[in-house]
Amino acid sequence: MTDRYAVFGNPISHSKSPLIHSQFASQTGQDLSYGAVLAPLNGFRDTVLAFRTEGGRGINITVPFKFEAFQLATQLTARAHAAQAVNTLKFDGAEIIGDNTDGAGLVADIERNLDFILHGKRVLLMGAGGAAYGVALPLLNAGAIVTVANRTEDKAHQLASVFSAHGAIQGSSYTELTGSQFDCVINATSSSLADSLPPLPRGDCAKSHSSPDEPVTNGENTNNRGIFAPNALAYDMMYGKETPFLIFAREQGAAQLADGLGMLVEQAAESFFLWRNVRPDTAPVIAKLRLN
Ligand code: ATR
Repeated sequence: MTDRYAVFGNPISHSKSPLIHSQFASQTGQDLSYGAVLAPLNGFRDTVLAFRTEGGRGINITVPFKFEAFQLATQLTARAHAAQAVNTLKFDGAEIIGDNTDGAGLVADIERNLDFILHGKRVLLMGAGGAAYGVALPLLNAGAIVTVANRTEDKAHQLASVFSAHGAIQGSSYTELTGSQFDCVINATSSSLADSLPPLPRGDCAKSHSSPDEPVTNGENTNNRGIFAPNALAYDMMYGKETPFLIFAREQGAAQLADGLGMLVEQAAESFFLWRNVRPDTAPVIAKLRLN
């Protein structure tokens, strides 16, 4: 009998997960179906349990249910426990295993697809909401030296203290970043959804001037080089459009720019592996989604 999986969210019609998982299934010869379920805002738990009763084997969870999914799990992986959020549930008899594959997906995309090794690199993680909590532990486990900056500074310090036992991580305001440089800057805020940009310090590097006639302020004696170190990677976890952050990063001289499409496919591959114990090839799926 065909095994059933689905992504649960509200809204859900935009989700690319059914497309991704059906490609994984045909590529690996796994006999499964994967749908999309619009769960009522006050009915997530009941909808999931009904899906399980009807023979569902596992689900992905997206906004706004990742914390409710965390609460529903009877067992948690270490990374789900650290994130306090779950994007994957596996139904295993009476057990509901909760995992969070977002951070592993991010790290896989950065290291394998973008060929950027995180070990020993200075990483600026912007945001201290659910998205940032989801990726902090895998970044630290990859050996990154993490600064987390947030508009509401207290939340940055809070996140840093939650993860400080796992590696080098400190909290910061955006203002305090002036004069610091990073090898990798990750946008885990929701700013791109509102077409806005986190208040990053702006460097005086040549590309930051919109007009060639514009005078260069501070002259050549300035040490205001902007936040991007030479060869820096700028990564926006959002995908589907060029975000204000990626435009800013290009203007400020970041060497490599990436959106979150690769992360989306890699986190799906991690879920697929948890359910099926088979690792799909992500490259053709990413390439196909880029064409759409
Ligand atoms: P998510 O689950 O996507 O992380 P969230 O938990 O609501 O959503 O968190 C949103 C994050 O984006 C927060 O860190 C928020 O900063 P505040 O804690 O100061 O609110 C951040 N954020 C949203 N819009 C932003 C903007 N325009 N500039 C900077 N940070 C922004």
